[in-house]
Amino acid sequence: LKALDVLAPYSEIIPDFSDFLDSLQGDPPTGLRVNTLLASPQEVARSLRSRGVRLAATPLGETFWTAQGLRHPGHLLEHLMGLIYVQAVSAGLAALVLAPGPGQWALDLCAAPGGKTTHMAQLMENRGWIIANEPHPERRGALQSNLRRLGVTNALVSAYPGQSFPRRWRFQRVLVDAPCSGTGNGRIGLRGELRGAGAPSGHYTVQQRALLLRGFDLLSEEGTLLYATCTYDPEENEGVLHHLLCQRPARVLPIALSIPHDPGVTSWKGEAYHDEVVHAWRIYPHRIPSVGFFLAKIGRR
Ligand SMILES: C[S@@+](CC[C@H](N)C(=O)[O-])C[C@H]1O[C@@H](n2cnc3c(N)ncnc32)[C@H](O)[C@@H]1O
Repeated sequence: LKALDVLAPYSEIIPDFSDFLDSLQGDPPTGLRVNTLLASPQEVARSLRSRGVRLAATPLGETFWTAQGLRHPGHLLEHLMGLIYVQAVSAGLAALVLAPGPGQWALDLCAAPGGKTTHMAQLMENRGWIIANEPHPERRGALQSNLRRLGVTNALVSAYPGQSFPRRWRFQRVLVDAPCSGTGNGRIGLRGELRGAGAPSGHYTVQQRALLLRGFDLLSEEGTLLYATCTYDPEENEGVLHHLLCQRPARVLPIALSIPHDPGVTSWKGEAYHDEVVHAWRIYPHRIPSVGFFLAKIGRR
């Protein structure tokens, strides 16, 4: 796939498009989240720096760093000990916006390999419960091992196709981090090829709509639902939100964090979406040192 063939259509919606393309050259900075279940940000930063890791601050505060030129973050002792999780800074926004608290009931409908589940567990201080759902067995193995490595003790793993997760329970926090085309992870290679991402496809959209509807149906009365993807494609993002808003008494809530972002787009390919999709956040790699991401905070009307 040529990067421009996939990305050029988004020049209509991504502001400063040439800066955007420039930001996709080379590797993205490695994001590191400190696992506050096991260590303090100060301790971890001191220990990493003492061994020559060059850390830079991020807009997400003291638990998130980027590391320049770090080839194999998975080989770091801090990683093996579960003191850090390698996570894109933009992906770290999901749990921060969902903000599950200690003692709550949370559901992570598409959980593997567990980046956001483990982040939720640390925000919940290992109290309350998280159901971490993942239907694919080999990915579930990675999820289990990350939960263990990071010392998460308040998560149970389930294996349902998310769209048919039983409606017996209700949750105060639900995360739908849906499978997507992943264009937000795409980088431009030396020959102009797109690396690390697929192309948008209707297959994703059908599944994403079903997952988001079920996620909403599992929400308690006052609960908060977060829809997230790592794609720029409006059909997989605002289009899926629009479908939810037409089918259920849902509303898209403004996000009260001060992080550079762009608003959701209200029309695409001649289709107009519900006005509330503007409250969604588009995260672009020329705005924060990370990969492309989309998130929408949703509640009951
Ligand atoms: C974007 S990834 C999730 C990343 C994860 N939340 C994290 O932060 O580490 C999407 C996940 O959804 C899983 N998945 C695929 N089909 C699914 C389905 N029908 N229901 C629920 N999850 C599904 C994939 O196997 C994949 O692990």
